Amino acid sequence: MTTPTEPMSGDGLGGAGDRPPAGVTVRSAERADLLGVFRVEKAVFTQPWPFAAFEKLLDAPAFLVADGAGTDRGSGDDGVAAGDVLGYVVGDLTPNHGRDIGHVKDIAVRPAAQGQGLGRTLLRRALYVLAGDGASVVKLEVRESNHRAQSLYADEGFDPARRIPRYYADGEAAFVMLLDVDEWARGDDADPA
Ligand SMILES: CC(C)(COP(=O)(O)OP(=O)(O)OC[C@H]1O[C@@H](n2cnc3c(N)ncnc32)[C@H](O)[C@@H]1OP(=O)(O)O)[C@@H](O)C(=O)NCCC(=O)NCCS
Repeated sequence: MTTPTEPMSGDGLGGAGDRPPAGVTVRSAERADLLGVFRVEKAVFTQPWPFAAFEKLLDAPAFLVADGAGTDRGSGDDGVAAGDVLGYVVGDLTPNHGRDIGHVKDIAVRPAAQGQGLGRTLLRRALYVLAGDGASVVKLEVRESNHRAQSLYADEGFDPARRIPRYYADGEAAFVMLLDVDEWARGDDADPA
């Protein structure tokens, strides 16, 4: 597995969107993070995953957390108990005859820490890990009404591939969005700002 806190050679890691805000570290999730992850999940989603779902995915290659220990980021009153986990992304990989498919299954930033670039940093780090582990394409599903997340994904190069009616338990449709992550990694010679 690629170590997500270390740059991968030749991938252009080091652009502004790859660096978390000062004092925040993006690293692989550990068991001790799961409660913090679950608290953020419950704060931002109307139909949160159960705790056990995160436990099962603990070894997923791109289960990363933004650790804000030692900073006061995310300390606003957002209904999430104090903790180090400011946000997380869960991404895994399915073998597919040499064209492995990455899947960003979940991503969230606690409300008090949103809008500071953390969501983009988490997404990009997960994409680097998945590309480094052999993904050719990365997919995700997003609620039709979630324009904020959609604009982040579109900005990183994801294209809507199809709409799945009643994908979510409350009846809302999802857009499936796809990214050619090989191309993304090649073209992403981000200027070290
Ligand atoms: C989606 C989410 C992860 C983004 O994280 P974030 O840390 O707030 O986002 P960032 O600060 O990195 O912003 C990244 C991009 O998101 C979009 N964005 C952020 N805030 C936005 C807003 N208020 N309105 C519209 N777009 C917005 C923009 O494209 C932004 O890029 P820009 O700053 O260059 O314009 C976060 O809003 C979140 O946790 N939402 C609730 C959970 C969720 O919906 N997860 C996605 C499930 S598919």
